[in-house]
Amino acid sequence: MLAMSETPTAPARPRILSGMQPTSDSLHIGNFIGALNNWVPLQDEFDAYYFVADLHALTVPTDPEVIRRRSRITAAQFIAAGIDPERSAVFCQSHVQEHPELMWILACQTAFGEMGRMTQFKDKTAKGQNANVGLFIYPILMAADILMYDAAYVPVGEDQRQHLEITRDLAVRVNQRFGENTLVVPEPYILKESAKIQDLQDPSMKMSKTNSTPKGLLELMDEPGKLTKKIKSAVTDTDGEIRYDPENKPGVSNLLVIHSALSGTKIADLERRFVGEGYGALKGEVADVVTSTFTPFRERMNELLADPAELDRTLAKGADRAREIAVVTMDRVRNAVGLLPVTGL
Ligand code: TRP
Repeated sequence: MLAMSETPTAPARPRILSGMQPTSDSLHIGNFIGALNNWVPLQDEFDAYYFVADLHALTVPTDPEVIRRRSRITAAQFIAAGIDPERSAVFCQSHVQEHPELMWILACQTAFGEMGRMTQFKDKTAKGQNANVGLFIYPILMAADILMYDAAYVPVGEDQRQHLEITRDLAVRVNQRFGENTLVVPEPYILKESAKIQDLQDPSMKMSKTNSTPKGLLELMDEPGKLTKKIKSAVTDTDGEIRYDPENKPGVSNLLVIHSALSGTKIADLERRFVGEGYGALKGEVADVVTSTFTPFRERMNELLADPAELDRTLAKGADRAREIAVVTMDRVRNAVGLLPVTGL
């Protein structure tokens, strides 16, 4: 395995990279707490690269206008959440054309069966999603995204663990076949599921874009009045006690989790504070905490989206930074696998 200090592009701080697909017009509170909000503090410790995985989004047939709109929205969400494009590289995957090139080289090192064993692919096709070859090799593109930047860590959710494992396998394999110093083997950095957010109307089910009804879902771009209304009508129970007990009191527990994740107050402290109070008081406070987090986010989003040219410039600058590293990696990889250099003239 290659130590960071030996790589030609080794940064002073370890590099991290993560990406998000432009597949929705607004994140919901679960994605926000589970991913984006965790990316923000990592900027202090790491040389961070955050990108919009627009090429990955093409695996599901989507209207081109919708992909374009959602790509800008996704980038704006990074920035509105607190990712600082001056410090961290914020870019679109498709702007760095080395990604599909590295994917091809990695694809030629991947066994057919390895892709067939990917659980996300199996789940999607089992649900009847019509699979194209892009969906099948999705994890190889993801491996290319990661290995391109000599990333030391990749902060992702538990659902991406298998993709990180195949990325590590591919890096090790390339190094064995073509030389130890070809690729950096990344370490997983699985974000703890610190807070699992449930549907407000059916708290036995995870809050999700596809399965939740609008009333069960808190979206970051919802107006404050709408958020408050949804929280006030969240399903609870009839025993009247404010206590964290996800098994017997999933609705109340979910409200406590949401409060705690956004306010930073420990659940035990909330339980103590709400002794003798009714659900109305809890809901009122959760609504305050949620709206005071989401309102500045929504306002910043609206500012950013009002000036798409500026957003595009930010993305172009981010892509320039990303490309500086990508070209160095690709020179190394092309040479290692036996592709002729472009020389002469
Ligand atoms: N597959 C990831 C997801 O759906 C998105 C992604 C694409 C990604 N490339 C990546 C995440 C590289 C981390 C690193 O969440």
